[in-house]
Amino acid sequence: MDAVDYTREDLEADDFGEIVHAVRLLDVCRTYKMGRKKIDALKGVNLEVKPGEFVVISGHSGSGKTTLLNIIGAIDTASSGRVFVMDVPIGDYDESFRASFRLTNTGFIFQSYNLVSTLTALENVLFPMQLYEKSKKDLEDEAMRLLKIVKMDHRSDHLPWQLSSGEQQRVAIARAMANDPPIVLADEPTANLDGESGQMVRDLLNELNRQEKAVIVMTHDEKIVRRKGARRFTMDDGVLSPYV
Ligand SMILES: Nc1ncnc2c1ncn2[C@@H]1O[C@H](COP(=O)(O)OP(=O)(O)OP(=O)(O)O)[C@@H](O)[C@H]1O
Ligand SMILES: [Mg+2]
Repeated sequence: MDAVDYTREDLEADDFGEIVHAVRLLDVCRTYKMGRKKIDALKGVNLEVKPGEFVVISGHSGSGKTTLLNIIGAIDTASSGRVFVMDVPIGDYDESFRASFRLTNTGFIFQSYNLVSTLTALENVLFPMQLYEKSKKDLEDEAMRLLKIVKMDHRSDHLPWQLSSGEQQRVAIARAMANDPPIVLADEPTANLDGESGQMVRDLLNELNRQEKAVIVMTHDEKIVRRKGARRFTMDDGVLSPYV
């Protein structure tokens, strides 16, 4: 498909009309090629997630969880199969579309936070807001509002290394909330956190879901896995199955 010059308005979820699926994966495979070696990280994954659902996927190390999340988040593309996010077949578009699309539609929370090390907490939250045509002051007010929600406004001028692990993850969650995306993707978001910080992150994920965002979490955290209302799946060697 030809490159298309999309404006931010084209990518607003509201403009897509009635969204049937936040995420729809049809027979998705991802094969990594390492020289002559091939690694089948995803082997025909099917998944349907409705807007506002809370989905938890567990699985052992190397089973394909991050690979799957990266494909849903348009960071990576499937080797075969179809990937629909907000009913848009994102694999059909070029990287520049997908970059704009993910900024507007998916908030990503990483296990290792992935804050930009040279930017302050405030600047990290501002970073995904680059598509907004608002004044610097309005954008900063919005970023501070998000930092307040995760109780990090008092550390807005700190660089990542001047923050504790739990604080970095809370800033990362504020960043994931920038642009108010309808989907939040979290990759083992509590794995590196102590009890109290982990609880704050769990509470924030619940809050995002209360705001009717679809939340997809890759985790072994029992407190998330057993969360009321979660749809559970397991990932085993690239195969996704309902949790029994
Ligand atoms: N960029 C890559 N190139 C080649 N192989 C890769 C790449 N990324 C992942 N893999 C392989 O694909 C498989 C799935 O990896 P993935 O990172 O998705 O697993 P995971 O379930 O997230 O594991 P963990 O729980 O340790 O984070 C693994 O065998 C891994 O070695
Ligand atoms: Mg992983």
